[in-house]
Amino acid sequence: MRFQRQRGTQDLLPEQARHWQHLDAQVRRTFASFDYGEIRTPLFEDTQLFVRGVGADTDIVQKEMYTFLDRKGRSLSLRPEGTAAVVRAYLENGMGREGGVRRLYYLGPMYRYDRPQAGRFREFFQLGAEAIGSAAPEQDLEIVDLMMTVLQELGLEDLEVEINSVGHPGCRAAYETLLRRALEAEQEALCPTCRERHVHNPLRVFDCKNEGCRAVAQRLPLLRQHLCEDCAAHHAAVLRGLDRLRLPHRENPHIVRGLDYYTRTAFEVHYPPLGAQSALGGGGRYDGLVEACGGPPTPAVGFSAGIERLLFALEQTRPQTLPSPRGAPIQVLPQEESARLAALELARELRRAAPTAVDLSGRSLKAQLKSADRAGALVAVILGAEERERDEVVVRDLVQGAQASHRRELAPQAVAALLEQSGERR
Ligand code: HAM
Repeated sequence: MRFQRQRGTQDLLPEQARHWQHLDAQVRRTFASFDYGEIRTPLFEDTQLFVRGVGADTDIVQKEMYTFLDRKGRSLSLRPEGTAAVVRAYLENGMGREGGVRRLYYLGPMYRYDRPQAGRFREFFQLGAEAIGSAAPEQDLEIVDLMMTVLQELGLEDLEVEINSVGHPGCRAAYETLLRRALEAEQEALCPTCRERHVHNPLRVFDCKNEGCRAVAQRLPLLRQHLCEDCAAHHAAVLRGLDRLRLPHRENPHIVRGLDYYTRTAFEVHYPPLGAQSALGGGGRYDGLVEACGGPPTPAVGFSAGIERLLFALEQTRPQTLPSPRGAPIQVLPQEESARLAALELARELRRAAPTAVDLSGRSLKAQLKSADRAGALVAVILGAEERERDEVVVRDLVQGAQASHRRELAPQAVAALLEQSGERR
């Protein structure tokens, strides 16, 4: 019986894992430079956290959650996103007690029973940040600036922010009445899900992927034209700030995003070279979420981006920014069974100079050298039978192809000297 990985999941092999490690390290540097601290929350939570937080009418909650009962019959869900869990942790750990703004970031796997396709997985990884405690439009701007800086420092250029305001529950209620009326007239063209949810959550139509619903969405009245004075002022301040900070942006009145918690600012960041799947991530303000999770009224704003999409974008358009798949610079090649332990011992010493691999495959010297070369190694240390009798090893310069015998105890020195030279020659 052979097993296969589950649909929508991926194995990360060492070459690709190197790209992830590079991204991970770079992204953490950027978050730290904005003074955001890392938060790690569990992979599963009480299902109700997401039902209340993300919204009972969203596709995520209705169709995409991995929900199961544990052995005591409690309903748990693998987290489909990070924000609701961060808010739960913020409240549970009293992180709002000192006042001020809590600036948090996270990197980790999320789970959605999505239809797998290019750039869409069932287990995917997000990086994201949340700033909890400020209602200022400048806090929205810091979050957009942070997201753009994260992406730019990774090497992505020509990014564009698409931005909208979805108002607050007050102005939204009046608009939703209008929208319901407009949708009544479009019943025939809507998908069954939207026909059902348009009654209590008509805004969801804007996020539906069904073609009929998308066509209807083009004809509907826009929330942007029905914002209350405060929400309109907030939005205008955000737009002015984007200009001032020179963050390339465009208003897109159709952005509502797939989660119900947004208030006022909602945005996405696009990378046009990717074509149809150009959204790298998005976010927005969610001033009601802390209260919905049982806390005091607390404004907040955040973003997240899909790591698979970022790496795909980098691999496709900026491969030179990613580390090359090089193996260890030093390779120790024992030529017979009896030399293997000596090879392990010698490798211990050589690792003080640089990463060292030992080839225990038992293949011919030719095959071993070929592998070492392919791995991009700089120096090979060959432990052959003849030399071993004289307590010597052969140190081979893989860049130039020259080699020489050295006494065993002098080998580390010879390797270090060669590494220095060949490192410079490269
Ligand atoms: P989201 O738009 O649902 O927002 O997800 C953010 C990003 O995660 C997407 O733009 C995409 O890059 C990636 N993503 C989502 N689903 C998949 C999938 N099935 N496969 C691969 N990548 C995917 C959120 O999750 C919010 N928590 C963002 C936020 C943070 N808002 C405020 N704070």
